[in-house]
Amino acid sequence: MRHKPPAGALTQKLHIKTYGCQMNAYDSARMAELLAPLGYGLTEDPGEADLVILNTCHIREKASEKLYSDLGRLHARKRARAALGQPMTLAVGGCVAQAEGDEMRRRAPFVDMIFGPQSFHRLPEMIAKRARGAGTVLETDFPAESKFDRLPEARARPGAGAHAGFVTVQEGCDKFCTFCVVPYTRGAEHSRAANQILAEVRSLASQGVREITLLGQNVNNYRGVGPDGRGWTLARLIRAVADIAGVARIRYVTSYPADMTDDLIAAHGEIPALMPFLHLPVQSGSDRVLAAMSRRHRADDYRRLVDRLRAARPDLALASDFIVGFPGESDADFAATRALVRDIGFASAYSFKYSARPGTPAAALPDQTPEAVKSERLAALQQLIVAQQRAFNERCAGRTFPVLFEREGKRPGQLVGRSPYMQAVYAPAPKSLLGQIAEIRIMAGYDNSLAGESMATA
Ligand code: SAH
Ligand code: F3S
Repeated sequence: MRHKPPAGALTQKLHIKTYGCQMNAYDSARMAELLAPLGYGLTEDPGEADLVILNTCHIREKASEKLYSDLGRLHARKRARAALGQPMTLAVGGCVAQAEGDEMRRRAPFVDMIFGPQSFHRLPEMIAKRARGAGTVLETDFPAESKFDRLPEARARPGAGAHAGFVTVQEGCDKFCTFCVVPYTRGAEHSRAANQILAEVRSLASQGVREITLLGQNVNNYRGVGPDGRGWTLARLIRAVADIAGVARIRYVTSYPADMTDDLIAAHGEIPALMPFLHLPVQSGSDRVLAAMSRRHRADDYRRLVDRLRAARPDLALASDFIVGFPGESDADFAATRALVRDIGFASAYSFKYSARPGTPAAALPDQTPEAVKSERLAALQQLIVAQQRAFNERCAGRTFPVLFEREGKRPGQLVGRSPYMQAVYAPAPKSLLGQIAEIRIMAGYDNSLAGESMATA
């Protein structure tokens, strides 16, 4: 269903708050595009918004706690606006909505609309339904139609980061790691057709986007139908994206180690646009814990996989995710995780305390790890990871990197860009280089950034 723009263009204000992963950020951007033809323009200030959407995350406990405290504040604002005769529509989307929609309706009855990540294309209908006074509108079934068939063309993000675009190519997960809610909130694995993705990339590239990140919960298990009617792998898709004029850099997140196929590993050595930086979550270095997590890889499988990737692309750097304090994790298990971190040498990594998610098998395990032990292990692991990240950044000094400049820095004449390894690079450079890729010599590496030499001397 197509909606015509109202005569007065943007007459309503929309505020979207995004929690969680890059896929949620992508979904939020698509919601804004979907609502623009209905007259909704974005605002940073939830207080002045006619429609507030919270795009939620359910992956760890803290994410949903934050949501309910934000909801309390928004409820007060909503009441204050109502007293002035300015109604505010409050919508909760994303994975908490999907997982706890019914409970949320009881716990926060002032929420007008609750919808899951696979239903946000129905927002226009939900808004109309709500305007008819239908009570809380709940859309948490997994719809038969794909939201991607119903969304308008993707736009490059204005402002900073306008030259790096995200495209969801695959959603959902059938792996059922025993700690994880994603298979329940995002549903079964589903890949978009390659043609639809390539059209979206072409459109972004024509708007000046130089770097494309292909997104998926299990992106390396991409199996969309290709223009030739056959199933395409992620490697095949990456080759086609690399052929699109204007696309200079390609990344993909997040990958499941057991799904790293030979052709994808080979692609790392063969496609120059594919950046030499891979986020490959391992979760633990203990085979006992990995088995309890149902991860389908052992620690040595991961080590061997990294060896093969580095053989294909010697300058490849790795990032990962870790969970500490999984039920039953012993000191020896945790030592195995640290050993794996030392063996691989990561450029960066995320580490999390295990968070028992309702409805997941691991939440029902008897030997939950005490909070104090989790905190201790998290601190120890983070210390190790920060040291590796710093060492990696320091080793970049003296090298010359192609840097995609994204925004102006705080100092006059300074631009900030990204290296192939996602490091922020600060360098004196002319504004004309915004949105461009330039070869920059790195002078120094710090914990979270690199300092680049001035273009004049580079
Ligand atoms: N599909 C990806 C990422 C899923 S969620 C993958 O295959 O890994 C992102 C990260 O959140 C995970 O890699 C994991 O480290 C973390 N995570 C997921 N569930 C968690 C939980 N219950 N407690 C703590 N961390 C969790
Ligand atoms: Fe979650 Fe494991 Fe899938 S971490 S997203 S169930 S691969």
